Amino acid sequence: MADSKFMNDYFTIGGDLKVRRFGFGAMRITGKGIWGEPKDRKEAVAVVKRAVELGINFIDTADSYGPYVSEEILAEALYPYPQNLIIATKGGLLRPGPDQWTPDGRPEHLKEALEGSLKRLKLDRIDLYQFHRPDPKVPLEESLGFLADMQKQGKIRHIGLSNVNEEQLKQAQKVVEVVAVQNLYNLTNRSSESLVDVTNDRNIGFIPWFPLATGNLAKPGGKLAEIAANHDATPAQVALAWLLKRSPNMLPIAGTGSVEHLEENIKGAGIELTNDEFEALGNLQS
Ligand SMILES: NC(=O)c1ccc[n+]([C@@H]2O[C@H](COP(=O)([O-])OP(=O)(O)OC[C@H]3O[C@@H](n4cnc5c(N)ncnc54)[C@H](OP(=O)(O)O)[C@@H]3O)[C@@H](O)[C@H]2O)c1
Repeated sequence: MADSKFMNDYFTIGGDLKVRRFGFGAMRITGKGIWGEPKDRKEAVAVVKRAVELGINFIDTADSYGPYVSEEILAEALYPYPQNLIIATKGGLLRPGPDQWTPDGRPEHLKEALEGSLKRLKLDRIDLYQFHRPDPKVPLEESLGFLADMQKQGKIRHIGLSNVNEEQLKQAQKVVEVVAVQNLYNLTNRSSESLVDVTNDRNIGFIPWFPLATGNLAKPGGKLAEIAANHDATPAQVALAWLLKRSPNMLPIAGTGSVEHLEENIKGAGIELTNDEFEALGNLQS
């Protein structure tokens, strides 16, 4: 692993957070419907510890994963944190029940969400706090204005956005310095294609969620499997390698509750696709 491309491939978020480009998404260490305890908490703790042991230093979570469970497991597994570890969390969604997500961008809610995350993660400051989803009932400026205040107070180091379009990014950049955008993006869902380039041009990290299309890109067969065979790899590994080659600001956070899948995914971050393979994969989108 020491000489793998994965170990030497960094992006600096906000000019001072140097992270390996391949991170870990901590949404899957919760129960079904991203609700409650995971089926096997011991395995969840083991996955998180193994991720860091293997060199991952960028972990994505949210207060709404569980809710709270993902952040609690991260603290249980990793606190006191290694010095170079960046935990990014998010706020701005309520969880009425399993698989239910309701935006709440009111400053009152964001205050409670941020304070809760700081407490659960045992931190004085969140390195990267992402506004989970714009709330149609609350002006974006109002939600972000609150986060800017919290940044001034030292509770947030950098601010990121999630689930935004180009217009919302532009609007947000008038209020805060945006250092990362986290949107749905993978080989077969390219709805944020232009945002990848826009963010890269502005030196903003792009964090693609559902990098494996919730596991669909890990399935055997098809073009992915064919190219995977060239690298003695799995389809999931190739899907992740494609993301990393797509743009230097791409920071995939593959999510898993399994140590085996975690190890497989990290190996995928070491694969170098040829330009022809990259192009052939890029034409796969449905
Ligand atoms: N900002 C947002 O609105 C938003 C929304 C969704 C997700 N996210 C973030 O993005 C991260 C990534 O998304 P995700 O975890 O939902 O989706 P994903 O990475 O596309 O897929 C995760 C699914 O794929 C399976 N999987 C992972 N590695 C595999 C492998 N090597 N072989 C076979 N199956 C594999 C996992 O099952 P196992 O557990 O069995 O491995 C899990 O069911 C999340 O963890 C979260 O941090 C953000």
